[in-house]
Amino acid sequence: MRPGVSISYRHPVTNGYWPLFDLHLTTPDLTLRPMREADLASLSDLLPDDLEHDPDATRYHVSDERLSRGIITHQGYWKAYGTWHPSAWRLGFAVSAAGDMVGFQELEGNDFPLLRTVDTSSFLVQAVRGRGYGKQMRRAVLALAFGPLRAQAAITSAWHDNQASLGVSRALGYQPNGESLHTREEGADVMVHMRLRRQDWLASGFGNDVVISGFDACRFLFGL
Ligand SMILES: CC(C)(COP(=O)(O)OP(=O)(O)OC[C@H]1O[C@@H](n2cnc3c(N)ncnc32)[C@H](O)[C@@H]1OP(=O)(O)O)[C@@H](O)C(=O)NCCC(=O)NCCS
Repeated sequence: MRPGVSISYRHPVTNGYWPLFDLHLTTPDLTLRPMREADLASLSDLLPDDLEHDPDATRYHVSDERLSRGIITHQGYWKAYGTWHPSAWRLGFAVSAAGDMVGFQELEGNDFPLLRTVDTSSFLVQAVRGRGYGKQMRRAVLALAFGPLRAQAAITSAWHDNQASLGVSRALGYQPNGESLHTREEGADVMVHMRLRRQDWLASGFGNDVVISGFDACRFLFGL
């Protein structure tokens, strides 16, 4: 440990070297905890067909598309923790309802100490959509971002026809932040960008029922 850096733990830790594993976010219906290697196969089994993966992810010559998408999920997990840096991080949470894993919520920061801006992405299994869980899990990570991480803004992007994703953002007070053209399958299509300001989040009270535990030990990972 570098001189002058002290890390203390308030509660029993699972892994003192990677305190993110003890971070928990809870909402009235959901529990979010950072992904662990043991979650990878289960999460890969849950990937919905309408989830779009990073077009730059490595693709292998396998005949089963679900296998290919599961591999991308595994490599994305290792890449996120393996390349973690306070100025560039991706924190993926496994989302559970009543003890069952039902989805994934990611929070991302690039040049975070300087820009204080986070991005998000997520999915839920089809069976639990439309119950407000999409909003709850976004609220959970926004409470972390605008709370102990002291973010100034949250941004998000979705294809123009992804009404559920855009609906979550609108419902939580994000404002339009422009559009851009991107390649989509064989053609080009419109990506809609939205932005939520810190003052609007705090005024909304949408973070009030989110409980965050285990964050103090993680501060150094975010350069705080
Ligand atoms: C995005 C996703 C996580 C949202 O979860 P969800 O359970 O559908 O969302 P919620 O029920 O919490 O809220 C959806 C909001 O969008 C609105 N919405 C949903 N479908 C809509 C539609 N077709 N038209 C207009 N509004 C719509 C809902 O009314 C709700 O807003 P409201 O509270 O103001 O009424 C989920 O739909 C999903 O997994 N989609 C596939 C993966 C994906 O596209 N992820 C996002 C890109 S990274």
